[in-house]
Amino acid sequence: MSAAADKPPQNEPPRPERRPRVFSGIQPSGTLHLGNYLGAVKNWVAMQDTHDCLYCAVDLHAITVRQQRAELRRNTIDLVNLFLASGVDPERSIVFVQSHVPAHTELMWILNTITYMGELRRMTQFKDKTAGAEGESIAVGIFDYPVLMAADILLYRADAVPVGEDQKQHVELTRDVAERFNKAFGKAFVVPEPIIRTEGARVMSLDDPAKKMSKSAGSENSYVAVMDAPDVIRRKIRRAVTDSGTEVRGGPDKPALSNLLDIYSAFSGDPLDEIVRRYEGKGYADLKADLGEVVVSALAPIQVRIRELEADTSYTLNALHVGAERAEAIAARTLAKVRERVGLVPRP
Ligand code: TRP
Repeated sequence: MSAAADKPPQNEPPRPERRPRVFSGIQPSGTLHLGNYLGAVKNWVAMQDTHDCLYCAVDLHAITVRQQRAELRRNTIDLVNLFLASGVDPERSIVFVQSHVPAHTELMWILNTITYMGELRRMTQFKDKTAGAEGESIAVGIFDYPVLMAADILLYRADAVPVGEDQKQHVELTRDVAERFNKAFGKAFVVPEPIIRTEGARVMSLDDPAKKMSKSAGSENSYVAVMDAPDVIRRKIRRAVTDSGTEVRGGPDKPALSNLLDIYSAFSGDPLDEIVRRYEGKGYADLKADLGEVVVSALAPIQVRIRELEADTSYTLNALHVGAERAEAIAARTLAKVRERVGLVPRP
């Protein structure tokens, strides 16, 4: 499939029966790794069969932490390329960059007027990110981050929001704010449900299974990057920490093995107990060698497609152009309703 030949269409696809709508977003803030893919994007791809989906690179959230401009641009396109290369289909789903649709920040302002300092102060992510810092040096954007996220979700009247456990509190805040608005001003928003990923999808660090896999924490060996070369992938998995004992199985006393088995299962589609049975009488090294191959061959087609998208940027840029227009059309309707509810004079 050549990258240039299959352009997404310019029109909204027909929507005969109303399927539940989902919105989700990822911040473009660094090297993409297995946690991003298995924990989010892979599920996004599957949800396209059952939901109307909007998938967003949330660059305005990313700038709540200082970014280098060239890197931010690069990371944003890389993230969108991962969506597309993994099977997010811009003909079926709306794929876009948050800052391309100004309605997000506009709705955020209105939501700011009904969100309380107290509820934002209670957000555990805010507390974690600002632990030890004084108000003097905490950016307002860090504090207000959940309100932008609420605007993302509510603008599209999303029924459901697939997120990791760490974002559940933000979706609950979104629900509270939506209900508060609907009650105070009249119904304008759908109150969304969080869809929390099940344990298997939580990918932990390869050198510390107590921590989430992340590009920022720990060493290079703590994560497998989506674009890592096959030898690098094999080596990182070979060097992953293991638990005491020799038996290949999961369980609370075997956090490192549980993580490796989860990754194995997520990529191969084989149920955990079947994998465990396969390694009866075998050792950690056997599991790691096979897991290396499983990950290498699962990532290979994604890597190939990402390189194609990088070689010819027109497909991605066109998808983002169409995505922003389609997103904007939905957002504009919600925003018009919200303005009317609040009493803002319609623009003549
Ligand atoms: N805050 C989310 C995260 O860090 C990213 C995000 C922003 C998001 N807006 C969203 C996720 C809307 C779901 C829906 O993971």
